[in-house]
Amino acid sequence: MKQKIAILCSGGDVSGMNPALKRFVEYAYARDLQPYFVHNGFEGLIDNNITPADYHDVAGIITRGGTKIGSARSKRFMEESFRAVAADNLKSRGIDRLIVLGGDGSFRGMERFYAETGIAFCGIPSTIDNDINGTDYCLGVDTALGVIKNAIDQIRDTASSFRRAFVIETMGRNCGYLALVSAITSGAEVCLIPEIPININDYKGCFQSQISKGRDYFIAIVSEALQNSAEISLWFEKELGIESRVSVLGHIQRGGNPSVYDRLMAYRFVTYAIDALLEGKSHSVICYTKSHFTFKTIDEVALHPYKIDEELLTLGREQFAPSHCQM
Ligand code: F6P
Repeated sequence: MKQKIAILCSGGDVSGMNPALKRFVEYAYARDLQPYFVHNGFEGLIDNNITPADYHDVAGIITRGGTKIGSARSKRFMEESFRAVAADNLKSRGIDRLIVLGGDGSFRGMERFYAETGIAFCGIPSTIDNDINGTDYCLGVDTALGVIKNAIDQIRDTASSFRRAFVIETMGRNCGYLALVSAITSGAEVCLIPEIPININDYKGCFQSQISKGRDYFIAIVSEALQNSAEISLWFEKELGIESRVSVLGHIQRGGNPSVYDRLMAYRFVTYAIDALLEGKSHSVICYTKSHFTFKTIDEVALHPYKIDEELLTLGREQFAPSHCQM
């Protein structure tokens, strides 16, 4: 009888989940395991939506964003009685190892599940927000940054043609990582994120001077965390007299053809996760820090909030400080 292993996706989907599913099936068979898919996250665990996985299931999915097996945010899994149902559904099939692609909330849920049931798991950090403490990289971030880059480059075409200010809002929940990296790499004039407090009024004199010398459009990248895109847009109109538009990029940031980097990271994360579970690691998260994979406890990952790397923040502060604005 083969040993069994399952995989599920939890929380916001990311491009990279499908490449991870493909590697999961192929490497499970290579390690003589029977792979299973749990559909629609922890909801599928509770609803017994668990199916054996085959090579055919993952054929051709490496190019697709999202996740073929669905994802969900499950409130029910927070309740012990539903976790007991979920455990029965796994145990009745002889599945005692689980890989979870998700965020720190999902890993916290799995930690409880492991304590109650002994079902081992390995978490793979997966969120476009890149906001999980203990890992430098979360699956899906590179693809999301690519989508944002393309969107900003295209918006620049119309911004320059129409001499407008564009306030472009990126996702990230409470974290400014996507906005910061995108602003630095797209040549934006403004970057507003919670981690670098800036008063937009402090740009006024410099931007007026730039306008007098011929600048006729602006790109401002604003994190959704600040919830002030409309306000910033109004500021450009009122204070600088330049027509302005808000463009909320929204859920396009979660989709798209997975980048090479995300395909490679999916492959590596899953390989390490399966190896770790076979070696007896029972409740850890695989993190990628300083170009190395390490296994961390749930507390190391979920007890502290994520902080953007200080070096990156320093670059952002230097680039976008109103005092550094070139008249
Ligand atoms: O966590 C990923 C994320 O896309 C965040 O950036 C965003 O705030 C949130 O999910 C959106 O959630 P929903 O898909 O429920 O609208």
